[in-house]
Amino acid sequence: MNKLQIIMFCQLIVGFQSTAQNTGPVYLDSSQPIEKRVESALSLMTLKEKVDMCHAQSKFSSKGVPRLGIPEIWTDDGPHGIREEVFWDDWSGAQWTNDSCTAFPALTCLAATFNPDMALLYGKSIGEEARYRNKTVLLGPGVNIYRTPMNGRNFEYMGEDPYLSSRIVVPYIQGVQQNGVSACVKHFALNNQELWRDHINVVLSDRALNEIYLPAFKAAVEEGKVGAIMGSYNQFNGVHCCTNDLLLNQILKKDWKFEGVVISDWGGVHETDKAVRNGLDLEMGTSIDGLTNNGGIPYSEYYLANPFLKGIESGKYMEALLNDKVSRILRLIFRFTMSQNRPYGKFISPEHSEAARKIAEEGIVLLKNDKQSLPVPVGKYKRIAVIGENATRSVTLGGGSSSLKVAYEVTPLAGLVALYGKKSVVYSQGYASGSVSYDREEQSHANTDSLVHAAVETARGAEIVFYIGGLNKNRFQDCEGGDRKTYNLPFGQDKLIEALLKVNRNLTVILLSGNAVAMPWIDKVPAIVQSWYLGSEAGNAIADVLTGAVNPSGKLPFSFPKKLEDNAAISFGKLSYPGDSINECYKEDILVGYRWFDTKHIAPLFAFGFGLSYTNFEYGKITTDKKTYNKDETIKVSFTLKNIGKVDGAEAVQVYVSQPKASVLRPAKELKAFKKVFLKAGESQSVELEVKVKDLAFYNEKTHGWSVEPGQFVLHNAASSAEVKSSVSIQVKKE
Ligand code: GLC
Repeated sequence: MNKLQIIMFCQLIVGFQSTAQNTGPVYLDSSQPIEKRVESALSLMTLKEKVDMCHAQSKFSSKGVPRLGIPEIWTDDGPHGIREEVFWDDWSGAQWTNDSCTAFPALTCLAATFNPDMALLYGKSIGEEARYRNKTVLLGPGVNIYRTPMNGRNFEYMGEDPYLSSRIVVPYIQGVQQNGVSACVKHFALNNQELWRDHINVVLSDRALNEIYLPAFKAAVEEGKVGAIMGSYNQFNGVHCCTNDLLLNQILKKDWKFEGVVISDWGGVHETDKAVRNGLDLEMGTSIDGLTNNGGIPYSEYYLANPFLKGIESGKYMEALLNDKVSRILRLIFRFTMSQNRPYGKFISPEHSEAARKIAEEGIVLLKNDKQSLPVPVGKYKRIAVIGENATRSVTLGGGSSSLKVAYEVTPLAGLVALYGKKSVVYSQGYASGSVSYDREEQSHANTDSLVHAAVETARGAEIVFYIGGLNKNRFQDCEGGDRKTYNLPFGQDKLIEALLKVNRNLTVILLSGNAVAMPWIDKVPAIVQSWYLGSEAGNAIADVLTGAVNPSGKLPFSFPKKLEDNAAISFGKLSYPGDSINECYKEDILVGYRWFDTKHIAPLFAFGFGLSYTNFEYGKITTDKKTYNKDETIKVSFTLKNIGKVDGAEAVQVYVSQPKASVLRPAKELKAFKKVFLKAGESQSVELEVKVKDLAFYNEKTHGWSVEPGQFVLHNAASSAEVKSSVSIQVKKE
């Protein structure tokens, strides 16, 4: 044989051997293409095994195929950390001793970093914890748009702007999924309040749906390649979103080419026929008759269980509908659980604590800092009063399904004592909110007057007061299942702050919350810090910022209205929010958040994208690489940014775009690019950003597609939606 023949002969032998080695069925061979593995497994499954795969077998799991060695699917909450193990068919914790996790900051904090690198770090870290706990699907992240400050679950989401949410959700998902765990973006779609969440029917325009409420989900699917998506409880167009043909079959699976699994929210399915036909793949947590809440519900009686099986056997449903669901579930299993070289994960590792602290530090927002009240270097004061229940209260517990059993949680007080020293810090609770409760409002029995009196006396003798309050994870606060009852701080805090100011004007207010709040005392308070729910490293992150060890660089992912009625949705009355308990009409349409404040010339208390630093930044004039562009081109934006202060810092620069003469109403401006720029004191940098011309489009309700109109667009570089530094016009050519 010549040389070539010898090579070919050897390849033949190797090929034969590799096939011979993998004598098992194709689906078990992780080197095979996923679609081949799906086909192979599907062909071997019985009808019953296939139907069993489409619904829950326990609170958080669904069946695999034991006979074929195909594993079960294990899901778990949540977006901020891996929930404790619960009993097989019950929400109660199963009291395991090895499932206390790292709590990462709430996603509002992640969004406030304006830093996709932090989102990747976040996803990687939480994904490692989910992997180590042997989860197939992490039930997060949530990306529902912040429509009003009353929504109990805003703390779990990424704010009011679809572009910011889109840029943060993609790396989060990529980070999770690189660990061999699927993320599950939620709640699809229009779950923008908790009141009446299980049935309220949302009515809105196609423009608002496509321009505001869908983009982050679309990015999660098309760019993040998310393995699963969770339907929401509410209705859209009169149909529950977990079984909504337009959302699931038309938009998600047909337009966006989603190949993953649609999972219902727990109890979000209400009938078999729509569940079978309208795009749901995996039914979780349904209460069959709505009268029994959990425990003892026969999983075999779930809507996608026996009723579905009987429907196929009777010929009412084509088996192809079942095979599509099962193929998606098998695809998820082969893509993640049974993937080649699946990583092993880590749990409560030092790297996760470092990640939690770094994200927290980058997300804290300095809202006010008159007379350079902050930072307060260690040693500056001998007597520091720390006042407020949130200085010592756990905020990783509560809030609903994102509640966590943590390995540890550094409270703000603990963090401050660790840096300033026990001798310099004195604490007083100031107010009491009652015990954490998900389903009812627990009143505190503490004597409010004595708490206030004690706090005032503590403040009187101090050189500075750190007031640490805000909301918490109780019902009707930042908590799933209910909306807030008031825009003001709860538990008498406004009065308490006024009382403290009477005896000590050197007072910094640090708010822990996932929502905007009213600040009637704002003119009297020299410094305000918006600190989110920061997880296990909360106290260390807050202390690092207050002492100046870290220069704050967070920016608000949502607007703070001066008064509740200034909020777009609220301003249109009850039918707009919270609805009439049957329907809710999004009358503000596309003018959500800063889009409303800018277009209606209403000054917010604090603007979207706003945040101060301990240094200052000087913006150069914005320029573009050309003056005219085709629709398929990218605009290259640049300007210099200089740190003109004395400390190193980071600035989340923003680029907004306006279309002065549009054929339709367009917001005054919209965020189309941002970048977090780190600069040493005195350093300047040429900042380059890109804006795709196609992203200047509006959703055209006549053509049911996106339109970029030829003509003038104006690009603005800005430090926030209310602080435009300079502008430049470009032309989009007629095609
Ligand atoms: C809850 C939530 C959802 C959560 C699920 C499982 O009702 O809406 O976000 O992942 O049920 O706990």
